[in-house]
Amino acid sequence: MDTYKLFIDGEFVEAQSGETFESVDPGTGAVVARVARAGTGDTEAAIASARRAFDHGEWSGLTPQARARKCYDFADQIAAQGLRLAVMESMDSGQIIGLSKFWGMLASGTLRNLGYYAATKFPWEEEIPFSGNVFAPAREYIRREPIGVCVGIIPWNFPISMASWKIAHAIVMGNTIVLKPASVTPLTALIMAEAAQAAGIPPGVINVLTGPGAELGKTLCTHPDVDKIAFTGSTAVGAQIMRMASDTVKKVTLELGGKSANIILDDADPDLAVEGAIFGTFFHQGQVCESGTRVLVAGKIYDDFVERMRKRAEELQVGYQLLPGTHQGPLVSADQLATVEGYVRLGIDEGADLVTGGTRLQPPGFEGGFYYAPTIFANVRNDMRIAQEEIFGPVVCVERFDSDEEAVTIANDSMYGLAGGVFSNNNARAERIARQVRTGTVWINNFHIFGDFAPFGGYKQSGVGRELGGVGLAEYTQVKRIHMNIAASRRANFTMNIFSDNPRVDSLQYRAPTNVLAGHGTLAGLPQAVVSLGCRRAMILTDAGVRKAGLTRLVQNALCDFYVGAFDDIPADSDLATVDTATARARELGADCIVSVGGGSVIDTAKAVCVTLKNGGEANDHIALMRLTEPQTPHIAIPTTAGTGSEVTNVAVIHNTKLDRKVYIVDANIIPNVAILDPRMTMTLPARLTAATGMDAITHAVEALTSTLAQTVCDGQALHALRLMKEFLPRAVTNGEDEQARIQVSVAACMAGWAFSTAQVGLAHSMAHTIGTLHHAHHGTACGIVLPKVMRFNAVHAADKLAMAAQALGVDTTDMTDHDAALAAADAVEALMREIKHPMTLRELGVPEDALEADALHALGDTATLFNARPVNDPAEVLELFRQAF
Ligand SMILES: NC(=O)c1ccc[n+]([C@@H]2O[C@H](COP(=O)([O-])OP(=O)(O)OC[C@H]3O[C@@H](n4cnc5c(N)ncnc54)[C@H](O)[C@@H]3O)[C@@H](O)[C@H]2O)c1
Repeated sequence: MDTYKLFIDGEFVEAQSGETFESVDPGTGAVVARVARAGTGDTEAAIASARRAFDHGEWSGLTPQARARKCYDFADQIAAQGLRLAVMESMDSGQIIGLSKFWGMLASGTLRNLGYYAATKFPWEEEIPFSGNVFAPAREYIRREPIGVCVGIIPWNFPISMASWKIAHAIVMGNTIVLKPASVTPLTALIMAEAAQAAGIPPGVINVLTGPGAELGKTLCTHPDVDKIAFTGSTAVGAQIMRMASDTVKKVTLELGGKSANIILDDADPDLAVEGAIFGTFFHQGQVCESGTRVLVAGKIYDDFVERMRKRAEELQVGYQLLPGTHQGPLVSADQLATVEGYVRLGIDEGADLVTGGTRLQPPGFEGGFYYAPTIFANVRNDMRIAQEEIFGPVVCVERFDSDEEAVTIANDSMYGLAGGVFSNNNARAERIARQVRTGTVWINNFHIFGDFAPFGGYKQSGVGRELGGVGLAEYTQVKRIHMNIAASRRANFTMNIFSDNPRVDSLQYRAPTNVLAGHGTLAGLPQAVVSLGCRRAMILTDAGVRKAGLTRLVQNALCDFYVGAFDDIPADSDLATVDTATARARELGADCIVSVGGGSVIDTAKAVCVTLKNGGEANDHIALMRLTEPQTPHIAIPTTAGTGSEVTNVAVIHNTKLDRKVYIVDANIIPNVAILDPRMTMTLPARLTAATGMDAITHAVEALTSTLAQTVCDGQALHALRLMKEFLPRAVTNGEDEQARIQVSVAACMAGWAFSTAQVGLAHSMAHTIGTLHHAHHGTACGIVLPKVMRFNAVHAADKLAMAAQALGVDTTDMTDHDAALAAADAVEALMREIKHPMTLRELGVPEDALEADALHALGDTATLFNARPVNDPAEVLELFRQAF
């Protein structure tokens, strides 16, 4: 008789105690082998060896490809042992030879397939293609790393298969493993260990311990050096394992019991369904966790179906597992036989009809084996214990249902949720049921089929986690996020600056992809712009005022045949509903390009339309900061006002009427592709709006200059924008037809847009957003009124920058301190406002004085405050500024 030893640290060794135990052939009751009986000392040695091997990195440090190659060698060694594995599996577990003959091939296939998946498809590293954090640009990625020392505890029904799953998952993912087979079926896991040794899997990577489950399990599940436990077995033991593992917070995956429903619809192919019900239950004597042991049969076909099942069950050959004609071998042990007998008695007592079986069998010559006849109970109610408890033997309960809904209700009336089947000739009907059954696997017109790439596991008390496929492999890894800041500098760190009173960020990142065409007649370039974007169907977005000024017609004519239609119902400070309506129109027209013609309200709407058009759904789905990962629907912006700069910026400001707030899409991917600044498009803008939108641009320039994210490129743009505005805005206001002034103002607005798109804006914008949203004032007008007040508020924190602004605005700062120059800059802005006849107070806009307190709180909640030169934390300070502006 063969003697098998423990496999620890690459060697086959006796148990430290020298003890052994017997493994018995359940078909004869004869002893087939003696096996070393591991104890606590052996378990600790195995764990130590697995720990050493993992920490040393000889296996965990290999690339997945190198590990896979080793696993292919291991797989070959298993395949080479195929016949021995088959015979020993049958003799040890009672599996029929017709099944066990496949295991060498299947186990080696699992190793090869999972190894290959890990080497070629598993997402070990994944870049997160957006920063995810607007304040902390970084490379963000996920790394998946092995967990460490895994313990695999497996049952006696499919020893080779279970061993191959546990070993393969663990080792292809770079872990090491201590495997404990069931004490009644210890042999084939040890033969697999021989294959591992022959293949040169490094010592300690795989360890196999045989012995009493309760004793070894305690050490395995509580030892601090064990990182993960994967258990397959009963729900009761699974719960115990979870409890034991909880003290050291091990990762646990559990494949537990089941009482799966196999639903036979009235339109099922009768022969297939009967075979499915028989195979689904009596395969491997019903000792299978996913067995369809509750056969639910439609009332219409019930009696006939039960009769057919009886016939097929009685045809099954029960006998010794190594005989070629045997369909059903013995149960695994005398204990299991006793359990099954107990449940059959219980079923009779509960009032179920015993249709066939219900007895032990003694095939001639094999009287010592644990054989039981295939047993069918009919007229079973789902609340009977035989329908609720897992029997783990050749016993099936046939229940009746009268509608598909009732079938689902019965199927789900179980503490288990492992698997199930639906038999029907109508795929759609079967699939509807499959989707409602709360289990980890549903087979349609089949049963018991596994695939290395198809995950397996349970809902409810049938388990935790999954095995097989990418999902199963992921259970054997830890997820690590790595954040790699783009600037290794204290001064470039926005977030840490929260501890600073002067939170300027000192770093430079600049992206301005818009192709700008500026100058008289540039509108003629529109068709070329459309073509250069690969488009043919341009839709114009505009508003009624712009249309009335005749500008839409100019653009339509410039577009020639590329024009497919227009949408002009965009209100000032446009809202989400408008974006949705405009998007619907664009979808109707099949537009592949948006041409926005108007002020900030139109261009921002167009940006949101481009995002919604590209990604589907509605506008509110896409309100987000830096979430997009690719270019949006192409967008050509033709600004018709003098100031927003939206034609080059990365922000769309949209009114959320439910929140009464402006909400934003901020993303480099929404920057318009082309901007056309043709003075003809702004020459019709009335003086009042020229002044107001000009003040918006001036506010952009000043706030970009003083923001905590200000940087040199943007400083240059902001300062030149101020110079141009100072010189040309009054001219454009006085004489709208002054083409040179119009061009310079448009370019200045564009530069201010570039500046703030990178450097952000500050408190003046927060306050203007509030006034715009709550009091419906024009954005640029509100910006202008509050800007000088905010400049004085920031005079200490941004003295140097505001001093530069003063010079750009024509102030002679010689002999002035920066602080005085900063204050002079605010005065210069006010002087310019007076020159262009811009409103000077909120009162003039109709803002009620008693609203100011609420306004202050509202403004404090606006994102732009985050970038203000001086920290904005005190509502009283903001209120004071509102009062000054009032
Ligand atoms: N995304 C950004 O970068 C950005 C920057 C600043 C402001 N904004 C947003 O822009 C909006 C304000 O935009 P705006 O100031 O351009 O105003 P607007 O788009 O609301 O237009 C104001 C009015 O001017 C009319 N008009 C526009 N051009 C005209 C012309 N050439 N001739 C005659 N009438 C004309 C319009 O019909 C409209 O009635 C606000 O919602 C603001 O939040 C966005």
